[in-house]
Amino acid sequence: MRILVTGHDGQVARSLAERASDHSTLELIFAARPDCDLSVPGSAAAAIEAARPALVVNAAAYTAVDKAEQEPDLARRINAEAAGEIAEAAAAVGAPLIHISTDYVFGGTGRAPMTEDEPIAPLGAYGWTKAEGEELVRAAQPDHLILRTAWVYSPFGANFVKTMLRLARDREEIGVVDDQRGSPTNALDLADLILALAARRLGGDSSGWGATYHAAGAGEASWAEVAADVMRVAAANGAPAATIRSIATSDFPTPARRPAWSVLDMGKLEETFDWRLPEWRPSLARVVTRLLDEG
Ligand SMILES: NC(=O)c1ccc[n+]([C@@H]2O[C@H](COP(=O)([O-])OP(=O)(O)OC[C@H]3O[C@@H](n4cnc5c(N)ncnc54)[C@H](OP(=O)(O)O)[C@@H]3O)[C@@H](O)[C@H]2O)c1
Repeated sequence: MRILVTGHDGQVARSLAERASDHSTLELIFAARPDCDLSVPGSAAAAIEAARPALVVNAAAYTAVDKAEQEPDLARRINAEAAGEIAEAAAAVGAPLIHISTDYVFGGTGRAPMTEDEPIAPLGAYGWTKAEGEELVRAAQPDHLILRTAWVYSPFGANFVKTMLRLARDREEIGVVDDQRGSPTNALDLADLILALAARRLGGDSSGWGATYHAAGAGEASWAEVAADVMRVAAANGAPAATIRSIATSDFPTPARRPAWSVLDMGKLEETFDWRLPEWRPSLARVVTRLLDEG
């Protein structure tokens, strides 16, 4: 059965492509630039109408959190308006939609893992455009799953883990913020979940659809703890490893504010779909080892 995925080279899109080999009944097609450009109104809808997929996964987004402060209109176009158009087009061809959203819809003042019912309070353009995208998806395609994930890394594209390994080649010490806590997520683990949910849905099981779920790696960490783990695995593999020095967010000013606390509660996902993403530490070790092996 044909699944249309938006984006091609993104971390989640590439993870879906890799993990699809575990699902012989699913055929993935990718609607990506230059043919499908979410900054162009109607572009994604045309791709969906032409392909008439059985299910759509919206894995594309404007993800440059800091740059979004300088170009909020483009971020809104891609994260909100295009998400709404994708949902409308999916509904028009009768395809359920899995839409990926973010922990950055939250303001991050809490101290307990956040459930889906927590009020949203985005701190920047990326967060509020993604929050608006969620609303437009809910309005246009009732047959949806919104999966809020967080702190995504993978063997693909640009991400924090790859940056840490690169910096460790030239530096003995790296300062990393230790006062933001979240739910590190291996995109390959998220892809396994998305494909399993798609396969169940296309097999006729629609229980739990029409709702929003938190879907991130199990456990919690600060960025400095993630970085320290990257270095631990690098050192164990004989690769360059730097010392991680904890710094405060105020020591590392960025154009966009980020939530200090964005640990997600995954209880609803587990109760509804009997699915729990792996603990972040062993999952991170798998990606770091793979990146070191691949050189
Ligand atoms: N990265 C994170 O830490 C994180 C955290 C929470 C939630 N999320 C969410 O997870 C989802 C996947 O993120 P990711 O980490 O895979 O992001 P990513 O690696 O930055 O990839 C972004 C994807 O969006 C596509 N894209 C961007 N602008 C586009 C445009 N104008 N037209 C068409 N496609 C466009 C890219 O296209 P190309 O294939 O052409 O490059 C790429 O496939 C997004 O919804 C994101 O908001 C990510």
